[in-house]
Amino acid sequence: MTSNEVLLAPADLVFPTDFLWGAATAAYQVEGAAVEDGRTPSIWDTYSHTPGRVLGGDTGDVACDHYHRYRDDVALMSGLGLGSYRFSVSWSRVQPGGRGPVNQAGMDFYRRLVDELGDQDILPWLTLYHWDLPQELEDAGGWPERDTAYRFAEFAALVHDALGDRVRHWTTLNEPWCSAFLGYGSGEHAPGRREPAASVRAAHHLMLGHGLAVQAIRAGGGTGEGPAQVGVTLNLYAVSPVTDSEADADAARRVDGLANRIFLDPVLRGRYPADVVEDLRGVTDFDHVHDGDLTIASSTLDMLGVNYYTRYVVSGPDPDAAPGWRRSTSAWPGSEHVRFTNRGLPVTAMNWEIDAPGLVEVLRRVNREYTSLPIYVTENGAAFDDLPDEAGRVDDRGRVDFFAQHLAACHQAITEGVPLRGYFAWSLLDNFEWAFGYTKRFGMVYVDYPTQRRTRKASADWYAQVSRRNGLVAQ
Ligand code: FCB
Repeated sequence: MTSNEVLLAPADLVFPTDFLWGAATAAYQVEGAAVEDGRTPSIWDTYSHTPGRVLGGDTGDVACDHYHRYRDDVALMSGLGLGSYRFSVSWSRVQPGGRGPVNQAGMDFYRRLVDELGDQDILPWLTLYHWDLPQELEDAGGWPERDTAYRFAEFAALVHDALGDRVRHWTTLNEPWCSAFLGYGSGEHAPGRREPAASVRAAHHLMLGHGLAVQAIRAGGGTGEGPAQVGVTLNLYAVSPVTDSEADADAARRVDGLANRIFLDPVLRGRYPADVVEDLRGVTDFDHVHDGDLTIASSTLDMLGVNYYTRYVVSGPDPDAAPGWRRSTSAWPGSEHVRFTNRGLPVTAMNWEIDAPGLVEVLRRVNREYTSLPIYVTENGAAFDDLPDEAGRVDDRGRVDFFAQHLAACHQAITEGVPLRGYFAWSLLDNFEWAFGYTKRFGMVYVDYPTQRRTRKASADWYAQVSRRNGLVAQ
């Protein structure tokens, strides 16, 4: 098999004519240039520079040096025939400290990037917040503080002022679950706090900030192509109980509640799910929710972004654990007893089971139970331990297979009537994978960090073909 043949579909899978084929990155994971042109530290700078937090002591100081190499990277995207590039804006680059006036030198980077994309006919898809809160705002309390939501709306307005004439597609937040529950619950992500009640407050203020940002962007108007298109990206999971016991069913309900519904319901229905509030009773009384907040959080959207990586398979408490046993803090406040397991399916280098049918389930569910809005898969991809061969080629068949299975899942969802309008591979480039540093490679393009040389992996060539043909061809 050469990279030009691939295609693991049993039949041709043709996508709708205007289907958007993209790839995604995020500011802290690729940009580097951590102290250039007035950028100040974000929580991820602080966290990665704290010994013991990130594997190998890796930081995003240099990352993929995208800040300086963006022109080459856009050329790479153009060579892949990408229709869209999803990137995020580093808040502390464009508004150092998270307050006050715009830092023009920092904003100019995004102007140049967007113009370059425009020149190559690649649609810019801008995410405002991909986890890199300015450190000063964390010092003032971070997302558990209500004021952070208002600072975020101000930042949204300022970025929209600068780029709103040339960027039409806006994602407010990327995966607020991670910001709230890994950042403030388990502490596996920046800022590394382990405070269950604060993590629930953070989730709420993220959604409040999201709603305020939607309003700010709308108020700023659109581009020559039409009004701004605004959405949010949630990381959604299929959730299954290990057995059909009552305890396992309860574990699945809880995890679905804390991973999916605690965001879906406020954003798309304007309320919290009653069972989740009940599950959290011992953690918080929700007195941080003010009148009107949920109306703001459920401001009308134009699209929904879904990131999908795997399914959660869960079971109830360990029957051998001492009565009342709970882990003291975790990413699952109030449900610390739930156990996560794998079912023996093939896994990626993250030890995440490869479960493409879960993506169909998620898309179907969102469309049937929550919204008829257009949906975009804003991230989907896999880490593998890619190594170049002697000729320098990276033949990442595992990744090709992963993409093919998940694109078949997308096609299935479309066939069932889900208004899925696009797909963004995570990621364009190998990059800084948060707490795993540079040890996990998610890119379609290999990055040799010491030289910053980029090499298209087989999956990049394959994806280029898929996007050109607008679908998968039967094997
Ligand atoms: C998602 C993140 C993204 C990347 C992938 C692997 O949760 O949004 O930045 O780390 O996982």
